[in-house]
Amino acid sequence: KTYKIAVVNGDGIGTEIVPAGVSVLDAVAEKYGFNLDKEEFPFGAGYFRKHGKFMSDDALDILKKFDAIFFGAVGLPEVDDTLPAKDYTFRVRTSFEQYVNYRPVKLFPGVESPLRYKTEKDIDFVVVRENNEGEFVQSGKIMHGDKPGGMAMDTSIFTRFGIERIAHYSFKLARKRNNKVTNVTKSNTLINSLAYWDRVIAEVAKEYPDVEYTKMYIDNASASFVLRPEIFDVILTTNLFGDILSDLGGAIMGSLGLGGSGNINPEKDFPSMFEPIHGSAPDIAGQNIANPIGQIWSAAIMLEHLGETEAAKNIMDGIEATTAKGNLTKDLRGTASTSEVAQSVVEFIKTT
Ligand code: NAI
Ligand code: MG
Repeated sequence: KTYKIAVVNGDGIGTEIVPAGVSVLDAVAEKYGFNLDKEEFPFGAGYFRKHGKFMSDDALDILKKFDAIFFGAVGLPEVDDTLPAKDYTFRVRTSFEQYVNYRPVKLFPGVESPLRYKTEKDIDFVVVRENNEGEFVQSGKIMHGDKPGGMAMDTSIFTRFGIERIAHYSFKLARKRNNKVTNVTKSNTLINSLAYWDRVIAEVAKEYPDVEYTKMYIDNASASFVLRPEIFDVILTTNLFGDILSDLGGAIMGSLGLGGSGNINPEKDFPSMFEPIHGSAPDIAGQNIANPIGQIWSAAIMLEHLGETEAAKNIMDGIEATTAKGNLTKDLRGTASTSEVAQSVVEFIKTT
């Protein structure tokens, strides 16, 4: 079997961690007997500096023909930071109806969580972030910005269609895990958009009587991430809240660099895109010290999506073996380089 994979390194540490992830993908492809037909695309802020745009005009038409997109992150300090999402990330996510942002949070063996009383069994849940609408639709404007009467607004958009599909995905996911969905909301103050969000989710919940459904406000949920993460199984939340909570999830795992994710179109009408939860980390780029595990985990999530379950599992076992050995990058107080950590996962795959 052959899968067509578009590889987009992006900017900053993307050019270090994506090749690290690809080396792991190549190792499992050889072991499990499938082919990866990979093509690289230079899109991102670096591309913008040469061409005045984050990707070529025909990029979406080209990417559409792939089975998946393996992506790092885009954005550079010297490039206008309102552009990466507008011209690349949000554009790909919406154009390809990747309405699920699947972001697991899990404590790996050998990694110390800043929550020092919590163990591997306490920190193991998934943030399901609505990925196509909500607060990130980028509909708004700045008016008379330079004048005393200046003002600005961004409008959030929530549709019944959009809420229902992310809710169904979350309840189905909970059935494969521990049968519990927590809707993280703020309907006590966002009394239109999020009250409607809650109402539609509660309706969908009725179709899954076997799944425990609860609602929690984002402020309480943030505290609970730190104080009692063991209460969570599947968190269903909006685009903005999910963005913030997944960085907090990365933090309680021990480092932002550990978090993998999938921007998923569950119907497989379009390619899905797999990337770490963090950004391009320009502050540590070019030093071979970035943690590649979030990128490698994203590779496993991609293979799971493509149906290569055993290969995905083998990658996860390789990550755990690597962290358990104390083979850690600087963000986890280790001394290993980006390539050494990736090499350790590759060795595990080749020798098991
Ligand atoms: P960031 O996630 O890039 O970095 C935040 C902090 O975490 C930094 O101190 C960084 O060194 C550290 N970090 C992140 N990934 C790491 C890794 N793999 N290993 C070790 N340490 C790691 O967030 P920041 O600084 O807010 O944004 C930088 C750029 O990335 C901006 O241009 C932003 O727009 C862009 N960005 C792009 C995203 C995407 O393409 N999906 C997502 C988030 C931000
Ligand atoms: Mg983010």
